[in-house]
Amino acid sequence: MPAMVYGALVAGSERGRTIKDNMSAFAELGFAPHVAGQQAQRDLSTTVMGVETALPVLISPTGVQAVHPEGEVAIARAAANRGVIMGLSSYASKPVEEVAAANPNVFFQMYWSGDRDAMVQRMERARKAGAKALIATLDWSFSNGRDWGSPVIPEKIDLKTAVKLAPGVLPRPGWLWSFAKTGRIPDLSVPNLQPPGGQAPTFFGAYGEWMQTPPPTWEDVAWLRKEWGGPFMLKGVTRVDDARKAVDAGVTALSVSNHGGNNLDTTPATIRVLPSIVEAVGDQVEVLLDGGVRRGGDVAKALALGARAVLIGRAYLWGLAANGQAGVENVLDILRGGLDSAVLGLGHSSVHELSPEDLVIPPGFLLTLGGGAVADAPAS
Ligand SMILES: Cc1cc2nc3c(=O)[nH]c(=O)nc-3n(C[C@H](O)[C@H](O)[C@H](O)COP(=O)(O)O)c2cc1C
Repeated sequence: MPAMVYGALVAGSERGRTIKDNMSAFAELGFAPHVAGQQAQRDLSTTVMGVETALPVLISPTGVQAVHPEGEVAIARAAANRGVIMGLSSYASKPVEEVAAANPNVFFQMYWSGDRDAMVQRMERARKAGAKALIATLDWSFSNGRDWGSPVIPEKIDLKTAVKLAPGVLPRPGWLWSFAKTGRIPDLSVPNLQPPGGQAPTFFGAYGEWMQTPPPTWEDVAWLRKEWGGPFMLKGVTRVDDARKAVDAGVTALSVSNHGGNNLDTTPATIRVLPSIVEAVGDQVEVLLDGGVRRGGDVAKALALGARAVLIGRAYLWGLAANGQAGVENVLDILRGGLDSAVLGLGHSSVHELSPEDLVIPPGFLLTLGGGAVADAPAS
């Protein structure tokens, strides 16, 4: 794919320390496997907020993607074929109706953006389309500078933009052909934020609305939760005090997340803070994790430290970029294989049996944010 599209996927914000830590922290954890007495049958399935999933791996919502023309519909089909829940971003390039038609288990994601009427309308539309849960992502702080260059996201593709983008795109004819053969010029609008009777905003139009919206209070979170009414996940929590407030606001689940290292750089890896949050609120809500999951073994480690399931972002985006729906299916199969090996080696018959006893946790690995002073800094 063109360098600018690649850059949009791999880079984290600023120095990229958080995105690196998200991945390397998983490698610091070890396994403690058995040599005999393992289980011939292993069940990798679970439920998230009452919805069944064949794997404890969900598709994390990601915004407008120029990586493949079929975008979120290809991802939804792949996830459905593998029995996996699909998180759909409100910044996605495909309408929620099309995505929900391809996968019965869609969770719709929203930011705190626009006025309350607009938010209610977006929720109602997602509900009508069949979304089974709402994901509210609240960690974003518009810190999107990247030391190695921010991606170019055009307003729309017209002749002038095409000429400007040509030097970056023409050296990648395979990628260009995947779009050209659809016979349509990619539409960079955000269809899930389209007002009734109006036009879908451009990415920057939507981003502008979001930047101008005052950040939510905890009362606003409770309001959003109540308006939705159904299963509700708060995505972006890293601190114990926030986790407790989220429980008070009535959430059903939360995802320990730093937006895949795309938000405030130097926030520690999510896997380091997961156990503190599980300990604080894990008996009241489901706790998930996202950030840095690249292998089935990473999934096993997150579950061993108390996550109900994980969400993946870049892992499926690679699959989508490489080979569309089949590429995403391949990624889910790789994760399934790696998770199954870990569950086998650790002597379990179900992912629910994974526990900290299965792991080698180095001294100083675990961190607690928002629960007093933090002595340890994240590893580089
Ligand atoms: C290109 C890109 C776009 C993203 N867009 C969104 C989004 O629209 N909504 C959201 O809640 N999270 C978004 N995220 C964050 C992901 O949902 C997820 O938290 C993150 O990718 C997990 O880290 P990983 O990529 O290491 O798996 C985005 C992440 C990436 C890489």
